Amino acid sequence: MALAGKRVLLLIGGGIAAYKALELIRLLRAQEVAVTCVLTRAGTQFVTPLSLQALSENRVYTDLFSLTDESEMGHIQLSRAADLLVVAPATADLLARMAAGLADDLAATVLLATDTPVLVAPAMNVRMWQHAATQANLATLRARGIGVVGPDEGPMACGEFGPGRLAEPPAILAAVAARLDGAKPLAGRRALVTSGPTHEPIDPVRYLANRSSGRQGHAIAAALAELGAAVTLVSGPVGIADPPGVRVERVETAAQMLAACLAALPVDVAVMAAAVADWRVAEPGGQKLKKIEGAPAPALTLTPNPDILAHLAGLAAGRPRLVIGFAAETEHVIAHAQAKRARKGCDWIVANDVSPATGIMGGAENEVHLVSAETVEDWPRMTKSEVASRLARRIAQALA
Ligand code: CTP
Repeated sequence: MALAGKRVLLLIGGGIAAYKALELIRLLRAQEVAVTCVLTRAGTQFVTPLSLQALSENRVYTDLFSLTDESEMGHIQLSRAADLLVVAPATADLLARMAAGLADDLAATVLLATDTPVLVAPAMNVRMWQHAATQANLATLRARGIGVVGPDEGPMACGEFGPGRLAEPPAILAAVAARLDGAKPLAGRRALVTSGPTHEPIDPVRYLANRSSGRQGHAIAAALAELGAAVTLVSGPVGIADPPGVRVERVETAAQMLAACLAALPVDVAVMAAAVADWRVAEPGGQKLKKIEGAPAPALTLTPNPDILAHLAGLAAGRPRLVIGFAAETEHVIAHAQAKRARKGCDWIVANDVSPATGIMGGAENEVHLVSAETVEDWPRMTKSEVASRLARRIAQALA
């Protein structure tokens, strides 16, 4: 990461996650990034200017109407003297004020006056995050070219569970690096990602499915796009939002997923994170199956689905340079992943232990091993979005 000498203006909103801004400053300073902080009025309730000043080794700005602040550096110069503005945590209120173009405190005024790139890291209660107003504000900000990192999903300070937690500081640092470097190490590269479950029809109203949420696959598509790749995400039916900056192809069955993947070729990298049904009903009914009093329950005859990962890895012409699969195991994780990698002919397998005790299946965190023909990398437990950013960076290295 060539960040030394870059200048970040960090705007800290008033949320419980504001304490994580301290860790972010530490990480940025470790990369020799110059950090200047602006605290919103509410932000001062959660972190003190003194802590920010000690860590950033810079004056902290808090109030638009402070005569000293204005005489030393006005709000216009403040935003001009930075290479990137980072809003972390970006509260629902601050996002709303940004979207509306308000200038009712120093942070909002700086954000309105700037023509410097802006990255926001939202953090708020899950219901505030899901509220149509917040989502509309975010869409407005994205359309203006503002970068968004997170939020993560998990238990929250308010006792609820869901999306709304501030992205972890290392993930924010990676997003900062991607923005600052102009570092779009995957610019000009094409990527294909599969995500979510497949639905295999039994009849026009019933189907076979699995519990995949699509979170890990969607996060990987977002992380690859963040690094500049042109990403096609082929997604089975999921209940989560499309990742920003990604072309999404929606499919239901494994056969449709394979067709959409083949249509997306050529690509440099294919990441197969979908939980594809291994079997489909051989002859789905054209009409809804009716239960007939006294008749035996119908038997379903299953037939194997195409293996999309093995198919892409085995292409004689047009094989992506890097083909990556996933392995969800409950025992002998590494040995099974190595065997699966060889069997499917892919380059890497991202393996994880999904035994119920790990809490990984359906959870916000993951602990994976990156298995290639030569090596096994054990990654520490981290959020699924951090796994995605780290995998995207490893892909960028491999394709460089
Ligand atoms: N995969 C695929 N098409 C299929 C089945 C699986 O592309 N029809 C991909 C998945 O996206 C994932 C990997 O293959 O990348 C998982 O392999 P799979 O054989 O499904 O492994 P598991 O179901 O995890 O394990 P096993 O069958 O060994 O229990």
